[in-house]
Amino acid sequence: MSWPSYIKYHGLALPPGAHSEESLEYAQNFAVEDTDVFTVTYPKSGTIWMQELLPLVLSGGDLTPIQTIPNWDRVPWLEEKRLKVVVDQLSSPRALVTHFPYQLMPQSFFSSKAKVIYVMRNPKDVIVSSYYFHQMATFLEDPGTWDEFMDKFLEGRVMFGKWTDHVKSWRHTELGDRIMYITYEQMIQDLPAAVRLISDFLGKNLSDKIIEKIAYHCSFNSMQANIMSNFSLVPKVYMDSDKSQFLRKGVVGDWRKHFSSEQLVHFSSAIYKELEGERFTLPWSLDGATDVANVVAQV
Ligand code: A3P
Repeated sequence: MSWPSYIKYHGLALPPGAHSEESLEYAQNFAVEDTDVFTVTYPKSGTIWMQELLPLVLSGGDLTPIQTIPNWDRVPWLEEKRLKVVVDQLSSPRALVTHFPYQLMPQSFFSSKAKVIYVMRNPKDVIVSSYYFHQMATFLEDPGTWDEFMDKFLEGRVMFGKWTDHVKSWRHTELGDRIMYITYEQMIQDLPAAVRLISDFLGKNLSDKIIEKIAYHCSFNSMQANIMSNFSLVPKVYMDSDKSQFLRKGVVGDWRKHFSSEQLVHFSSAIYKELEGERFTLPWSLDGATDVANVVAQV
């Protein structure tokens, strides 16, 4: 299947198919409600994980949404075509996801009380996940060799641009206590604790039993077995699961199997250079010593 080249939107490259001029305009004019909850991610940082987790937290553990609605309609992407189709079916409080940088959020978002959960993942694992995703998703450009893909990623010649620009934009918000930061690694390390942090942030008072239930249904294995979340409903011409699964490994530190020592130095120094002079520090060290993320300090 051959796709037209990426749509350019405020300097970002977005794959056609899911996005269109119309969907981007719709997103720009979207009327955000005070009760809306946005999960924001750079692609491959745990978006679909949050599409499973949020409806469960918001409903107090009701499994119906995750068992009956595909993830892309259950917690739609702000910028994608499906939002307009399903918006009237979303139950309140609405949960949405977006890969937009902060400055591209709709005007109504800034004056609303909508909450944001920003999920960050170690960029070394993001790029590995993205590399495989580019191989299986036919609507994305061919990633080239691993070396070539690393340069594309570092230069922002991939969908949604540079990882560092995305992180910087969301670490410099005026959102105060409307935003919480969490890492993919924290979620891997202790999922029930992460679910508790998120539910507290959303003002939900969930029992330990419900938290455990939510964590169970959001485990990698549960999601891999859930046809409403594992992308098996998507025809192979769009996502070729023989090449790679969407729910591929779900681990921390897979980068170790892919980076040479030269690539590690190249990658880390490029990321650190982009972040020079920033007030925040990353919750992981990129030199390879440890993959454990410290809790992200609020800015
Ligand atoms: P890997 O390719 O490293 O396995 P996104 O949804 O933002 O595109 O991110 C996809 C990544 O999140 C994939 O990473 C996928 O396996 C991982 N992921 C999704 N659900 C997960 C879960 N329940 N537990 C661990 N990782 C999960």
